[in-house]
Amino acid sequence: MPFFWADVDPSPREAQASSIRGMKVVALLVAAGRGERFGSGVPKQFLPLLGRPVLHHAAEALLREGGVDAILPVTRAGEEAEVAALLAGLPLLPPVAGGTTRQASVKAGLEALAADRPEIVLVHDAARPVVPPGTIPALLAALEESPGAIPALPVADTLKRGAGGRILETVPRAGLYRAQTPQAFRFPTLLDVHRMARDEATDDAQLLEAAGHPVALVAGAESNVKITWPEDLARLEAAMTPQMIPRMGTGFDVHRVVAGRPMILCGVEVPSPVGLDGHSDADVGIHALCDAIYGALAEGDIGRWFPPSEAQWKDADSARFLRHAAGRIAARGGMLANADVTLICERPKIAPHAEAMRERLAGLLGVEVGRVSVKATTTERLGFPGRGEGIAAQAAAVVLLPATG
Ligand code: CTP
Ligand code: MG
Repeated sequence: MPFFWADVDPSPREAQASSIRGMKVVALLVAAGRGERFGSGVPKQFLPLLGRPVLHHAAEALLREGGVDAILPVTRAGEEAEVAALLAGLPLLPPVAGGTTRQASVKAGLEALAADRPEIVLVHDAARPVVPPGTIPALLAALEESPGAIPALPVADTLKRGAGGRILETVPRAGLYRAQTPQAFRFPTLLDVHRMARDEATDDAQLLEAAGHPVALVAGAESNVKITWPEDLARLEAAMTPQMIPRMGTGFDVHRVVAGRPMILCGVEVPSPVGLDGHSDADVGIHALCDAIYGALAEGDIGRWFPPSEAQWKDADSARFLRHAAGRIAARGGMLANADVTLICERPKIAPHAEAMRERLAGLLGVEVGRVSVKATTTERLGFPGRGEGIAAQAAAVVLLPATG
C-alpha cells in the first residue's frame, strides 16, 4: 500500500455524505496522478506535510471557510478505499477512479456527479495543500456573473521562449497570468465542455475558453503552491513550520529535613535516614523544575497551579506537578529544549542516583533523556544545607514556543 499513515484502516467505510442530492457546491479533489516529475515512490499527494498527507491538507483547506458541501476525491483505480480512509471524518462522497490524464480524471468525477448534479463544482489539485483564505468566496461570487472563475497571479518574471539552450524570443508578459486551482464552474457548463472536448487541456478553464464561455479571474496567491518538484514540498514545509522562539525560566525551592518522611528527589526515592518536610511529597528538585518551566512560559509558579492551601495536594506525588508543567508546554504548541536541575545538599550523595533521576524526569516530561540534566553541589558545610537542616534546588529550563505564542 503506497500510503505512509500506518494506522489507517484500508477497509471500505461508509462515506460521510452518501448522496449529493440537494447539494449546492461539490469540490472534485483530483488525486489520480503519479507525480512523475516529483519522482518519489509514493505519489506526491500522499507524502507527509507537517505529519499529514498533502491531500488531507488540500481537502481541509477546501472546507475551511464553509460554502463547500462535500468533497469527491478522484483517485487511481484501486486506491478509492485507501483515499476514503485517509480523509475519514470529512464530508466525503465515495471516491471514484480517475483516468490517465488530469482531464480524464476530472471528467470521471463530473460523470459521477451527473445524475444528481450540484449547482456548482470546484476542481482542485490534491497537490495544492494551501487554499488561501478568501479564494473560494471570491470564486463563488464571480460565478454570479460568469460560468467559470479561476484564481490566477500576474506573471512577474520576464518571459522567454527558448529551444536548444537559446532564446528564440521574449514573450511580452503584459496580461499574462499563472492559473491556479481551485477553479469554479457552474456544473452543467463544465460537464458539457468536458463531454465535447476533443483536445487535451491542462486545466478546466481552457475547455470553457475553447467553447467561447467567459471565465473570470480572481486573485491568486503565491502561497497556493502546486507541489511539482521535491523542492516545492521542502519549501512549503519550511514556510508552514512556525518559527520557534527560545524562552528560558529559572526555579528555586527549599524544603526542611525531618525524620520519618521519605527522601524523594527528582522523582526518585533515595535511601536516607531523614526525609523532606512539606505539604506534598516535598520533592524539592521537581518543584524547582516546575517553577523553571512555568517561568519560561510566564505562567506563574507551582503555587498558583497547586495551592498548598488546598487539601487535595497534601502528600501529593510531585510527578503530577511536572506532568502538568509539561502539559502547559504542549498546550502552548511548544517543546522543551532542555532542563538543568542542581540539588544543593551535603547528603544524601546525589551522584549514584543522578542517572535514575534524569531518566525519571525525562519520562515525566516526555522528552529524550539527553535534554535533562541533574547534578548536585554542596555549600562547603555553610548555611542551612551545610548544617543538614534543609535541601535546596535550583533549575533552569529553555522552552521553544511558536513566535506567535
Ligand atoms: N491528476 C489526476 N489524474 C491524472 C493526472 C493528474 O487526477 N491522470 C491530478 C494530480 O494528482 C494532481 C493534479 O492532477 O493533484 C495536478 O497534476 P500534476 O501536478 O501534473 O500531477 P501529476 O500528474 O501527478 O504529476 P506529474 O505530471 O509530474 O506526473
Ligand atoms: Mg501531470
